[in-house]
This record gives sequence, structure tokens and C-alpha cells, in this order.
Amino acid sequence: MELATVSKNTTTKFYKDVMRGLRSSPKHLDSKYFYDEHGDELFQQIMNCEDYYLPDCEMEILKTQSADISATLFATEKSLDVIELGAGDCSKSVYLLKQILRRNKSFTFFPVDISSHVIELIKEDLPKKVRGLKIYGLNGEYIEMLKKATQLSAKRKLVLFMGSNIGNMNYEQSISFLKQVRSCLNKGDYILIGFDLKKNPQIILNAYNDKQGITREFNLNLLRRINKELNADFVIGNFMHFPVYNPESGECKSYLVSICKQRVFIGDTDFIDFDEQETIDMEISTKYSINQTNEIARLSGFKPVEYFYDSKQWFVDVLWSCM
Ligand code: AVI
Repeated sequence: MELATVSKNTTTKFYKDVMRGLRSSPKHLDSKYFYDEHGDELFQQIMNCEDYYLPDCEMEILKTQSADISATLFATEKSLDVIELGAGDCSKSVYLLKQILRRNKSFTFFPVDISSHVIELIKEDLPKKVRGLKIYGLNGEYIEMLKKATQLSAKRKLVLFMGSNIGNMNYEQSISFLKQVRSCLNKGDYILIGFDLKKNPQIILNAYNDKQGITREFNLNLLRRINKELNADFVIGNFMHFPVYNPESGECKSYLVSICKQRVFIGDTDFIDFDEQETIDMEISTKYSINQTNEIARLSGFKPVEYFYDSKQWFVDVLWSCM
């Protein structure tokens, strides 16, 4: 990598977050950085992987219960606009959008995603699947784009925050995030939020330690990204992927463990020392009891309206209204 590029990279948020995380004790990295181009591909593979049960559960809910979700909403509302945070390919929300359109021909769908590429794909593909749907794509961070969407729409809102993305925040972070979401909305607006529920701990652990080793690669890919973008020299084989699940707290955490004492350079002069067996905390994927989801709703200013479970009761999409 050219020197000019490296020195420019040291001013980026990515560089600062990486250095802050690796200079902390214990060391950590932010899982939001998993999603570079190769990370996106690996995540798609995880979504299709047998051990990773979450997408199938939530897909079943949306396929079989979108009419019920829509009926619940339109029991009290005449019209609403829909904002999806982290819309991705809309493969699940498409079922709900079709049902909402049947009852409310003129609603607007605001998909929000950090990737401009994803927003372009939605604008191209979704109208072919949901004829007549009005789409206003918003590319950027969740809260900023949510604020923008609420300025553009005067209607009642339904926010979609699915996939158990909330689980990638710890308890305090999730409440603070949901309070921010609530502050962008009005009393009576709704959020449909996906939670992965506590279940047989082995099933959960297997989902983050899949037989094909895709989740392992997904974690290690962040070290590769740091090598590529920040001119670091992580030796990937010197780190071991080690997920653990605590059935009491519901926290599934993924670590990378340094298998030897080593020094890693990030750029030409900065370095990080690792002891043998020293860990990097890579990701949290929280699993919830229904009582915990109710508590989170209460603490962040929402009230549960209805619960939509998959047939195994492994996952729930809960409809909350703003208090
Ligand atoms: C995006 N998020 C809900 C996933 C999860 O289950 O925590 C990310 C993931 N990490 C490993 N596998 C999937």
C-alpha cells in the first residue's frame, strides 16, 4: 500500500475504532465492521447455512403471518408509511409490504440501509415484486435516516427492525438505541422488532460455530480487512475463532483468541502486542426471554401490542406501539 493512502487511513473512523478497541483491556472490535464486500458475501452464506436457524424462523413468520400483522395494524389505522431499518434485500418484509398495500394503496416504503448498492438494488427489484409500491430509499445511518423519513412523511409510521439486529447490542446499548428510535416517532406509531429467543443452548452455540466454518471466516475476515485497509500484518492462522453462549444472560459472544505471543503492526509504526491466549471480543448476539423483550419495550418508551412467533417458538417479531 502506498504511504499516502496509509496516512490518510489513520484519520478514518475505522482506524480510530480499531486502535481504540485493540488498545483496550480486554481487547475488542466492533462487529459493524464485519460487513465489507467479502464480509457481505460471507454473511449471505451464513444466512443460507443450515446451523444458522434465524432467517428461516423469521421468514416463516413473515410468510404465514403478514396478513395478521397487517390486520392488527389496520384494526385501528387507516393509512401508514413503512420505514425499514437495515432493509437488505427485503426478502422477508416483501410479504408484509404486499399485505399493507392491499389495505392502503398510497403508502410509501422507506428502506434504510448503510449500503448505497443495497438501496439501488431495492429500487430496481422491489417494484417488480410489489406492483404499485412507492419507494423512497434512504442510504445512511439508522437514526439519521429515520429522522429524515419522519420529516418526509406526515402519516402514522411503522418501523421494521427485524433479523434480531437488536441482539448485536448489549442491554444498555439496545435501550439507548430504542430510546433514540422512539424520540424520532410520535405516540401511536409502531415498530415491528425481531428478537431471537432463548432456546436449547447447543442449538444457539451451533449457529455461531457452524460445521462449514463460515462464521469462523466471517470473524477472521475483519482481521483481513484491517490488513488490507489499514496496512496491518495480522497472521490469520495465529487466531482461533471461539464462540461461547451463556444461557443465563442469553449472551452469545464470539472471540478471536491469539494462539501465541505476537506483535501485530497496524501501519508502519503502530503496533499491538498479544499474549498467548489473549482474546479479542468480536461480537455479541443476545438471545431473549419474552419478559426481557417486554422490559426493553417499557424502558425505551414502547408498549407490546402483539407477538408473532414461528412454529418452533424460537424467534418472535413483536409489534410495539409508542407510548
Ligand atoms: C446480523 N446479526 C443479527 C447476526 C447475528 O446473529 O448476530 C450476525 C451474525 N454473526 C454471526 N452470524 C451471524
